[in-house]
Amino acid sequence: MKLFDVYPINNINITHAKGSKVWDEHNNEYLDLYGGHAVISIGHTHPHWVHRIEEQLKKIAFYSNSIKIPIQEELAHKLGEVSGKKDYQLFLCNSGAEANENALKLASFHTGRKKIIAFSKSFHGRTSLAVAATDNPSIVAPVNQTDNVIFLPFNNTEALEEAFKKHGNELAAVIVEGIQGVGGINVAEKNFLLSIRKNCDQYGAVYIADSVQCGYGRSGIFFSHDHAGVEADIYTMAKGMGNGFPIGGIIISPSLKAKHGMLGTTFGGNHLACAAALAVLEVIEKENLIQHASKVGEFLSASLRSISPLSGVRGMGLMIGFDVPEQLNNLKKDLLFKYRIFTGEAKPNVIRLLPSLALSMEDAAYFIQHLKLAIEQYQD
Ligand SMILES: Cc1ncc(COP(=O)(O)O)c(C=O)c1O
Repeated sequence: MKLFDVYPINNINITHAKGSKVWDEHNNEYLDLYGGHAVISIGHTHPHWVHRIEEQLKKIAFYSNSIKIPIQEELAHKLGEVSGKKDYQLFLCNSGAEANENALKLASFHTGRKKIIAFSKSFHGRTSLAVAATDNPSIVAPVNQTDNVIFLPFNNTEALEEAFKKHGNELAAVIVEGIQGVGGINVAEKNFLLSIRKNCDQYGAVYIADSVQCGYGRSGIFFSHDHAGVEADIYTMAKGMGNGFPIGGIIISPSLKAKHGMLGTTFGGNHLACAAALAVLEVIEKENLIQHASKVGEFLSASLRSISPLSGVRGMGLMIGFDVPEQLNNLKKDLLFKYRIFTGEAKPNVIRLLPSLALSMEDAAYFIQHLKLAIEQYQD
């Protein structure tokens, strides 16, 4: 059997990894500033994470949500502590798309309404409603198409006010990334998020903060949306949550009430995934990774701003993007194949940095040094 060929892949076979380093089958070492698409939060194969998973595996890996699973409660407690959202309620699932799908569904159940506001350049996943709220028609299948999603320009407060005036009483939710990832690292402005909060309150709609990529401390605060100083009704999470072990979740404000059967999943919240997620939070806390991400991120952003001809350096913490001019359009490939540094991209010309929150200052400096070397090559 062949694999269904949906991914354009780099011809590299990574066989092992540690911290921010990965090695291929020929034992070549790479610096990982991509984190497997923002997934590696505490570092590859962190010993505490490996230990927690191994110990859990020896006891029990899975049983269904029809029984008590105390490790879920332990995870909810720890997440409340580390995120500061102690009074929120946790629902666990397996991926970012599923988290958004459940959040949108819950908002619709809660309000009894159908319409959703989403924004230009958004990415919310590939399940039916999540993809309908994603601003990329090429990944929306005919069956996913719906009139229920209203797209507005990102960071445009006037357009948001207008849409609420027109559709406010039909709106179930506004879904917004705190920092757009796939869209090219665009930070949601404070006033824009304040306006979402204000309008959702006025019209009884649910504010959904898609924190799948920008959450879990990556921005230098636990949820990047919170830099605006207001809270969302639902935060969705996935990537950094398990450090590579598949797990997703939504945290839900106390104003939204649960009802048996309204949401559900077979695998979500299984023992093994919870052990991985607990290990992540324990390490984030013990190693002060959120403050660390903020510090290393500041160094990277400041250094990038001084490198010509790069431009538009933006982001928060260790979620950074910059524009690469046309004459350097092979830069990302050169970084990977000549300098063995993984970075991310966003079409058409953005390089995205999404490293582990534990990226060391030395590794950050190594990257800047080799990025400069890679750029110099073009100037010869
Ligand atoms: C902001 C955001 N939301 C949702 C998703 C979907 O997550 P998943 O691929 O785990 O379904 C992604 C994935 O890149 C994302 O960046």
